[in-house]
Amino acid sequence: MRVVDLIIKKKNGETLSRDELHFLISGYVNETIPDYQISSLLMAICFQGLSEHEQSDLTLEMLESGERIDLSAVNGICVDKHSTGGVGDKTTLVVAPLVAACGMKMAKMSGRGLGHTGGTLDKLEAIPKFRIALSGEEFFRQVDEISLAVAGQTANIAPADKKLYALRDVTGTVEAVGLIAASIMSKKLASGASHILLDVKVGDGAFMKDLASAQELAEAMVAIGNRQGKKTVALLTDMDQPLGSAVGNSLEVIEAIETLKGRGPKDLETLCLEIATKLLLMTGFEKTREEAFERATTALKDGAALEKLKQMIFYQNGDVRVLEDYSLLPTAKRVIEVKNKSAGYVRKVHALEIGNAAMLLGAGRATKDDLIDLAVGIKVHAKVGDYLEAGDLLATVHANDKHIEEAIQKVEAAFEMVSEKVQPNKLILDIIE
Ligand code: URA
Repeated sequence: MRVVDLIIKKKNGETLSRDELHFLISGYVNETIPDYQISSLLMAICFQGLSEHEQSDLTLEMLESGERIDLSAVNGICVDKHSTGGVGDKTTLVVAPLVAACGMKMAKMSGRGLGHTGGTLDKLEAIPKFRIALSGEEFFRQVDEISLAVAGQTANIAPADKKLYALRDVTGTVEAVGLIAASIMSKKLASGASHILLDVKVGDGAFMKDLASAQELAEAMVAIGNRQGKKTVALLTDMDQPLGSAVGNSLEVIEAIETLKGRGPKDLETLCLEIATKLLLMTGFEKTREEAFERATTALKDGAALEKLKQMIFYQNGDVRVLEDYSLLPTAKRVIEVKNKSAGYVRKVHALEIGNAAMLLGAGRATKDDLIDLAVGIKVHAKVGDYLEAGDLLATVHANDKHIEEAIQKVEAAFEMVSEKVQPNKLILDIIE
């Protein structure tokens, strides 16, 4: 086999076989095939796409380039959830304890944030002394004993994806549905869970800007998961405005705790309950939607899910007093109010602008080695559809020393006001089963 022939084959719109994909991916990982040939192949894939078979085969090749987590030692049904990334998306902090309180198990390996989207590990590190680096043995024991763990990667998961993703990032080849689907699903299949719930974000603050492309991605990922015998469902959810109110690590931890106390923003609570409800149905813990929703709601409202978060913080060495005393979390020096200028309805709260403003303050990373400031961020006080008078609060900017004026300008620009009434955004746009 010659690499150049396979590049030409893809360029001409033909289908690559599993053997051919194996040759390409293993050669790339072993460094017998250079970056420039794989770049060319990736660009051909961007133009010609991948068939359903090719997507599955590519996923398996990337999966098999590394280790798989073996959860067979854990008693019970292990579920996983994955968000394609958005602004203010702290659902894992709520959903992981919630599903554990509902009787399922969640052994979750999370990542750090990059760009305007946050990462669960960074948020957890806002909790004083919280350990995200668990050994494999600690991770499994914790899941067995308290039904949940959220930690950094304990194994060498899909190294081919890591290499390919870095190359895609600098060759303009990230945005191809087949490549994104294979990249995400190779890591999800390696995580060992039997049931996978995907939260595919749609809109201005997400990878997928419109519903049609998000549906295409969701369908591709659900097909890959189900082909491998993992029950996989995707929710398509709104990212045309930030989720909840808080954007920034400490602020998001507080909002997640408030949600587990039954006092969180409505959209965040709704999404977390919907994810838990779906997982209860997928796993057969409950037979009807009503029963599943009731179980999830009870676990959220009676404090059982909050207790699970407390157990997880305790097991991972964090300071559990944060649950009652938010001043123990990193806190910004300044809180600046951003007020509305003229009365009207909120038509848009551009999630990307808010995410970029938070990043400027230091809440996010422009490159993967940047240090972040866990204390800073933005609280958004108005949602699409709200009516505001001039002088009402739009947002508060929690800042230390970095780029305060620029961030305030971005926050102001994120809000679009109009005089005619506006309908609130729909939160759950579609479900792909
Ligand atoms: N997230 C991933 O893990 N991979 C992609 O290709 C895009 C988003």
